[in-house]
Amino acid sequence: TEDRLCETEQPAGGLHFIGKKDELIEAKRSFRTVDGRDILIIHHQGVFYAMDCYCYHAGGTLENGDIEEINGKLCIICPKHKYKISLCEGEGLYRGRNPQEEPPVYRWYSKGVKQRTHTVTETNGEIFVKMSSQPGWIDSDYYQGEKGKIERAKA
Ligand code: FES
Repeated sequence: TEDRLCETEQPAGGLHFIGKKDELIEAKRSFRTVDGRDILIIHHQGVFYAMDCYCYHAGGTLENGDIEEINGKLCIICPKHKYKISLCEGEGLYRGRNPQEEPPVYRWYSKGVKQRTHTVTETNGEIFVKMSSQPGWIDSDYYQGEKGKIERAKA
């Protein structure tokens, strides 16, 4: 099977070399610091993903999280409190029910984008990441940088 990329958009500039494709496939999960940001590169079922390494909820490290399909989306499950985060979009998913509904049925809902995800691209067997430039605050931003280190240690 051919390797696919999470996003079809081909990033033009700002590419950071992450490593050799073969090695990253073998590793499955790789931690990198790019532009002072700690990210996780994941290879799962033929696709590369990249996202902030620390969970938006309380800064748990996602490196050893299980991956499951939830509501048609592949999600990493934070080992700390089991929050679910979609690999492609960084959406926070939760199970809830509408109290108006009788009998109540549990469904998956989205909290929107909570974890910053980055774009992975491949050229001649080498893997590059383009860091997210999505403006505005994304919850996982909190656990990056110096302040984040202190918060993670407390969590
Ligand atoms: Fe990830 Fe709480 S820190 S679920």
